[in-house]
Amino acid sequence: MCSIIGYYGNKIAAPIIVKGLKRMEYRGYDSVGVATESNNQIELKKGVGKVQEVNSKVQLDTLPGKIGIGHTRWATHGKVTDVNAHPHPSSSGKLAIVHNGIIDNFEELKKQLEKEGYIFKSETDSEVIANLLQKNYEATGDVKETIMKTVSEIKGHYAFVAMFENGQLAAARFHEPLIIGVGQDDFFLSSDVLGFIEYTDDAIYMENGNFVILDKNKFQMSDFSGKHVGYAITKVSKEFGDAYKGDYAHFTLKEIYEQPTTILKAGEKTKDAVEKVADHIKHAKNIYMTGSGTSYNSALIAKQILSKFAKIRVETIMSSELQFSSDSIEKNSILIAISQSGESADVLEAVKIAKKANCKIISIVNLTASSLARESDIIIGLNCGPEIGVAATKSFTSQLAIIYKMVQKLSDDKIEIDFNKISESILKILENPTKIQQIAKELKNISDIYVLGRGIHYPIAIEAALKLKELTYIHAEGIPGGELKHGPLALMDSNVFVIIINPNDSTYSDTLTSAREIKARGAKIIGISDVKSNVYDYHIEIPETDELSYPISEIIAIQMLSYYAAIEKDTDPDYPRNLAKSVTVK
Ligand code: F6R
Repeated sequence: MCSIIGYYGNKIAAPIIVKGLKRMEYRGYDSVGVATESNNQIELKKGVGKVQEVNSKVQLDTLPGKIGIGHTRWATHGKVTDVNAHPHPSSSGKLAIVHNGIIDNFEELKKQLEKEGYIFKSETDSEVIANLLQKNYEATGDVKETIMKTVSEIKGHYAFVAMFENGQLAAARFHEPLIIGVGQDDFFLSSDVLGFIEYTDDAIYMENGNFVILDKNKFQMSDFSGKHVGYAITKVSKEFGDAYKGDYAHFTLKEIYEQPTTILKAGEKTKDAVEKVADHIKHAKNIYMTGSGTSYNSALIAKQILSKFAKIRVETIMSSELQFSSDSIEKNSILIAISQSGESADVLEAVKIAKKANCKIISIVNLTASSLARESDIIIGLNCGPEIGVAATKSFTSQLAIIYKMVQKLSDDKIEIDFNKISESILKILENPTKIQQIAKELKNISDIYVLGRGIHYPIAIEAALKLKELTYIHAEGIPGGELKHGPLALMDSNVFVIIINPNDSTYSDTLTSAREIKARGAKIIGISDVKSNVYDYHIEIPETDELSYPISEIIAIQMLSYYAAIEKDTDPDYPRNLAKSVTVK
């Protein structure tokens, strides 16, 4: 989603801001802009495109001054245009803002402000903040009073940074991430630690409902009622500074190739947590699992294996749907929330609902300083390092590793999971990309792909379809094998490709039969299996292994196929169109 950065210090701000925005590109955006203050004047440049493109066109990084704000926008209100890009100046130009989130009551505020003579240039909800701040500043002449009055008038979820022409910076947070980087002689305000990690690893995670004011004489944190509040400086993991592609063509490819290692590191820094969670699960009356997208697909796998191997019943609810079944959340239960970023608005909303029902919140999360982690009673960290590619890859397999560890504990270690063997299987697939690259070429001009799997392999089929959609823009759908004859068979003809997930386990022969039925209708079959078959037009071989390890090998093969098909189609695998890494709006 949108990224915010603010700088206040002794260095020239614009190049630092542009660098920070580049670091946060993975979050997804369509336009970019920077504003700085120098000699009590605000200068601003912005435009549609990638940071590099816009910078080459308008030289964002040459703006003067040691105080500045920057933003990458992911359109919610209004088209992708230069005017709608942030920062937004107020109509007098005496202040400018960058904003992340949504202002629910912007229409009524805008009408009122227009009546009072304030001029709006953009279609965004954000510009309302700029003009409201201006109005309140004109009335109070004091930045603190201005922020307090403004946050009392706007409704919605937001993080914003406002820069005043007198050189003061103010930032407020309400249900959108905002982190302060504390340097030697400077401060950073950012939606993501990557915005400032190059300069400092000291960070203050702002609490919801707090705002901060920075000027020559003070650094002042208050709550929305104006009361001064304390804050803690945390050390941010330096590894987030490693967010470079290295020798890989894309972050996505690098992250796919990290999985033989990340699978072994899952949960390593929160070892006791798995044990604690297992204990809670054993004694809980109801267990709910939630997540969005890929993280929800992990929950679907967890549901199946917890039931099969530990006889534990779990109810899975998509985070975005939980609000519609909030009545069915029984009091004093457990909610396990799965998320890579820990910032997905839908997940946070689900947690809020469960908390109201007195549920214990357990999170399986990569960013252990995220909003989700801070809302949780127990945190299990994925510990897979920064995932920059918008499509989730290594975070998914790390989520599975954590779930497997939980199942292992819950079965009183009766189930043996050999993570070294899983890691070796992943490596074997990654070491032989040629066949997958060749098959990817065949997908270049295809418009429909179906992915079929049974049992534990069905959630993998759903996750596979999600990866293909995101990376290749090809329509893709997961099909539960047994349902083929109840509808999807009608779609099979010579124009479609069907990926059959068919490891040599209890699902093998039924799935092979499905493959035959599909082939008889003329569709092309890609078999992902450790057993060769003449039913497959193309075969992606995975190593022979056990029931719990197969899904990980299967998804590695699919991630590779999706990545190479994206390359064939010349789409950008790291930043799929219209998508954002952290979906911080509902
Ligand atoms: C899929 C993908 C998204 C995320 C979803 C949840 O490749 O990246 O579907 O899985 O937006 O994000 P987190 O896990 O950060 O809550």
